[in-house]
Amino acid sequence: MPASNENNNHGTANMGFATRAIHAGTTPDQYGALVPPVYMTSTYAFETVEQGAAMFEGELAGHFYSRVSNPTVDVLEKRFASIEGAEAAVGFASGMGGITSTLWTVLSAGDEIIADKTLYGCTFAFFEHGLTRFGVKVKFVDLQNADEFAAAITTATKVVYFETPANPNMRLINIAAISKIARAHDVLTVVDNTYSTPYLTRPIELGADLVVHSATKYLGGHGDLIAGLVAGSAELMLRIRVEGLKDMTGAVMSPLTAHQIMRGMKTLELRMDRHCATAMMIAKELEAHPAVEQVFYPGLETSPDHELAKKQMYDFGGMIAFELKGGIEAGRTMMNALELIKRAVSLGDPDSLIQHPASMTHASYTPEERASHGITDGLIRLSVGLETPSDILADIMSGLAAISKKENHQQAA
Ligand SMILES: Cc1ncc(COP(=O)(O)O)c(C=O)c1O
Repeated sequence: MPASNENNNHGTANMGFATRAIHAGTTPDQYGALVPPVYMTSTYAFETVEQGAAMFEGELAGHFYSRVSNPTVDVLEKRFASIEGAEAAVGFASGMGGITSTLWTVLSAGDEIIADKTLYGCTFAFFEHGLTRFGVKVKFVDLQNADEFAAAITTATKVVYFETPANPNMRLINIAAISKIARAHDVLTVVDNTYSTPYLTRPIELGADLVVHSATKYLGGHGDLIAGLVAGSAELMLRIRVEGLKDMTGAVMSPLTAHQIMRGMKTLELRMDRHCATAMMIAKELEAHPAVEQVFYPGLETSPDHELAKKQMYDFGGMIAFELKGGIEAGRTMMNALELIKRAVSLGDPDSLIQHPASMTHASYTPEERASHGITDGLIRLSVGLETPSDILADIMSGLAAISKKENHQQAA
């Protein structure tokens, strides 16, 4: 393991977000390379048997096997901890690798986890069909209602878990309010910050204990990798590394992936500004369109979450959900008519992506579960990309126009 898993700002501690996303955690190498070298190595030679033993004991700092730590991944972990406002971070092979490694570490049979009712489909499946098989009780609660959360806590509750904005319906959860109640009951608050990114929301500064990310999305930012990052206190992150990652999941991040994420993070602030500005414009245009029933975007003044969003988000993000008046039939017509925007899952890419949660990312819920968890069949999820904003809008408008064209054709037939 590195000398300290703790975030080391290398003189950037008091500098701005973009500076830290580019420089924090950098360890100068022997050639003065600006970009951290990619250490593609599984193992590391010990000078003596005694030195190796001391590293295994944790008495001596150093890397001894890349399932535990790696110098390239280490720079990313420190840099990411810095921008999340955390003491330490650990990288994983995927967002799900990070989520599972974290929860396997902090939960035991007999414990309870309280989760918000809206979760990404595979997180829901892990909780509902995975954790429960190992004796963990899972309670789904509407965490927009802090009283409902307080009432659900028992002495067995160890973790409260939520996404904000939630995938796919964009519900916001008040991080400060939930963390405060959780802390008073010795419950760990775990926030999935994938949609917001640390540029828009920093849950730890608002009282959360752990932040989990699918780094596949905005952090990597180019749609060319799968990865996860988790941040929190140095003590918790050490436990997650040596228990969850090393011994339970082995879901380790490749050094090459760490290199790609560091390249992506250098433009995180720039990209997010553009994602947010274009999404705001598209959300307003969608809201004004006669074929659209409802738009879910926290930047809209009509959003029930707008006031909370102004408090806990720096801007409103690049994700939009919406329902059409013609339901999912109209949604299929619209999505199939798109030419620029790709019909694909995932999000946070430069390419705009659109998908139907009920039949794709959230298909791991049964129809009844989706209904009770607030994921409607007509919902469409749009990840607004970095293309020229007017081109994205024109594609959406021609997709929406295809609905009325089809209706007119059917009426004429
Ligand atoms: C909010 C959220 N959390 C976690 C994940 C899982 O991440 P990964 O696909 O990198 O395993 C996803 C993936 O779509 C997600 O959208």
